[in-house]
Amino acid sequence: MKRLLLFSLPILIIISVVFAFFGFFQARSVQERLIDEIKRKAKAVAESMELSAGQILATRDLRKAQRLIEKFETRERLQGCVLYDREGKLFVITKRFSEWKDHQKPYLGEVITQKTPHGELAKFGDYSVYSYVHPVLDDDGQILGLVEVIYDTSYIFTRLTELWKRISIALIALVISILLVSLLTLRQLFVMPVRRLTEWFTRFQRGNIDAKSPIRDTGELGKLAEEVEQVALNLRVARRSMIEEAQVRVEKEDLWTEKRLQDLVVAKLGENSLFVVSNREPYIHVFDVERNETKMMFPASGVVTAIDPIMRACGGTWVAHGSGNADTKFVNSRNKIGVPPGDERYILKRVWLTKEEEEGYYYGFANEGLWLLCHVTHTRPIFREVDWQIYRKVNEKFADALLEELPADNPFVFIQDYHFTLLPQMIKQKRPDATIALFWHIPWPNPEVFSICPYQEEILEGMLCCDLIGFHVQNNCNNFLDTANRLMESRVDTEKFSVVKSGRETLVRAFPISIDGSVFGKPTESVLNQKEKIREELKLDGKIVAVSVERIDYTKGIVERLLAIDRFLEKYPEFKTRFVFIQIAAPSRTHIKRYHDLTGEIDELIERKNWKYAEGDWSPIIYLKRQFTPEEISPYYQLADLCIVSPLHDGMNLVAKEFISAKNDLSGILLLSRFAGAARELTDAVQINPYATEEFAESIKDAIEMPVEEKRRRMERMREIVGKNNIFFWAANIIAELTGVKNTQPLRKE
Ligand code: F6P
Repeated sequence: MKRLLLFSLPILIIISVVFAFFGFFQARSVQERLIDEIKRKAKAVAESMELSAGQILATRDLRKAQRLIEKFETRERLQGCVLYDREGKLFVITKRFSEWKDHQKPYLGEVITQKTPHGELAKFGDYSVYSYVHPVLDDDGQILGLVEVIYDTSYIFTRLTELWKRISIALIALVISILLVSLLTLRQLFVMPVRRLTEWFTRFQRGNIDAKSPIRDTGELGKLAEEVEQVALNLRVARRSMIEEAQVRVEKEDLWTEKRLQDLVVAKLGENSLFVVSNREPYIHVFDVERNETKMMFPASGVVTAIDPIMRACGGTWVAHGSGNADTKFVNSRNKIGVPPGDERYILKRVWLTKEEEEGYYYGFANEGLWLLCHVTHTRPIFREVDWQIYRKVNEKFADALLEELPADNPFVFIQDYHFTLLPQMIKQKRPDATIALFWHIPWPNPEVFSICPYQEEILEGMLCCDLIGFHVQNNCNNFLDTANRLMESRVDTEKFSVVKSGRETLVRAFPISIDGSVFGKPTESVLNQKEKIREELKLDGKIVAVSVERIDYTKGIVERLLAIDRFLEKYPEFKTRFVFIQIAAPSRTHIKRYHDLTGEIDELIERKNWKYAEGDWSPIIYLKRQFTPEEISPYYQLADLCIVSPLHDGMNLVAKEFISAKNDLSGILLLSRFAGAARELTDAVQINPYATEEFAESIKDAIEMPVEEKRRRMERMREIVGKNNIFFWAANIIAELTGVKNTQPLRKE
């Protein structure tokens, strides 16, 4: 409609102006003609009365005068006649127009003295009239009296109104015709060809190129379409050779790098790029009210830390919840944005959720239900029916958002985490040709624990529509296989580590997630400068610095760690004033009471312990409670002599790996909870039980006092592991496993 108006509005304006212009002149000429006609009529009538009026006025015969007037008053549109004597006094007047005698007539005197006729248009009550006064002279040219005839001119106005009505109707008819013609022309010349081109493009985008229906169009758009077709062909050919070159490179290289992963994706997935789904989006646009500006944030999230480098390397589309309050301002009409902003490598598609959906799906079912079910923290999970219904609805919403992006053939979908247990089934129902992997970033409990979930069957059924389910460690895989075996009608193949349900096989594998070593690798000059600045500002010179980094979450064991530090200082007072612990913590899920309370508990505990030990300008704990970017965390890793990672239960924990990766000078030691997935790989860390305060405190002391050489040896070994098993290696393993299964089995209904 807008385009139609843009196209036809100028024409319509021009036509209306021309019509108004000609209408005005036409009306004016009609008006002049009609007035002229009246004037002529009035003159003729007055002149034809002159002779008889002369005789009557000479004799002052009133009866005859009356008859004369009555004779003329039947003339068309003649309103009335008046005879005046030689002094201009009224002698006789048409009865029906007798009020005219009260009308002011200053012109009578002028007609008497000059003996010339006078005509004028006048307003009289409701009438528009034309009055014509003619002098009546005797044979000697002396004035005998006057004849006045008055004509009604209102009909001129009626005629003009009708004329304007006709002009307007003609104009409206013309406008409608022009709009219709424009619409048809626009449709034929523009809309249809563009629509054909768009459909062709959509098919091309989805990899559904139909050789039998090339773009065919005539005219300029046809030429454009042909050019597009050529570009598309070149692109296809180029992609094909890229795939072959990539295959050769993948086979040759050894260590997994961003480039090597990129080659693997091209070689294995070819034209079908990667589709990732997660709840948390990698880039969040937030409006800062205090500064009155919008800023971009990188969330504190293991999923984002791990998946963003993969997507940067491989491209593709990442579908996630648009949670930033300024997110809507930065997407295109299909809710997509190229990211990272300024260095666009892949597409982020944002899915919008209502407050009610966020509450039920994210805060409720995912984080008050499943999160607790899977983490052993001895806190009771809450399962509300309403949350479950919303969780299902949101899974459907994400399925719709993803399905409209998938290419025509064999798409690869990589789902993240416990927020989307129903999504695999929803996708497979519509796209049985899709290969789906789900990575579970948190632990998986044993069957007894899982069996308390009221929705266990739906969850397992949803998940078992995947071709591959990944966990961080083998123990989680074993728990999952046990769960499927005990709680579902399915067959677990312990040889292949798979579950067969309704004729469909799902592989279950451990893929220890990792990081992109380059992010915290060799420190840049700015990181080193920052490190010195922090050392000075926080008065850390000559101190033993310990650091912890995480979201404020009860699974991270922050309270237990603070108690262990308290015990350490209590037991070994010689470390007072020499030891500083920096806690970096990003507020998280504060909308949930448990998290809100924990935030308060930590604030209070830190305040109490600092008060207990403070001496001069030293206090043992520095609390930095806010969101930090990787660049901001890096100098703290550089500064730290110890990094304490002490979750009560954790799928992997990437902070442990980040610290190792940051220590390229081999300094520092890692204290790591034996309940974090990372403990399986990083066996050279000082392993601790966060619940055992006494032992934990001892471990802090042991770590500090460990000989430098020993620390270096441990760090070297751990760096080798993290360097080799990096995030690109992780992704490569999953893709290789996925492309190995290359699913073709249709979803069978139970
Ligand atoms: O590690 C588990 C996890 O849910 C990840 O999926 C996510 O990266 C992290 O916790 C942060 O959680 P959220 O996205 O709820 O802030």
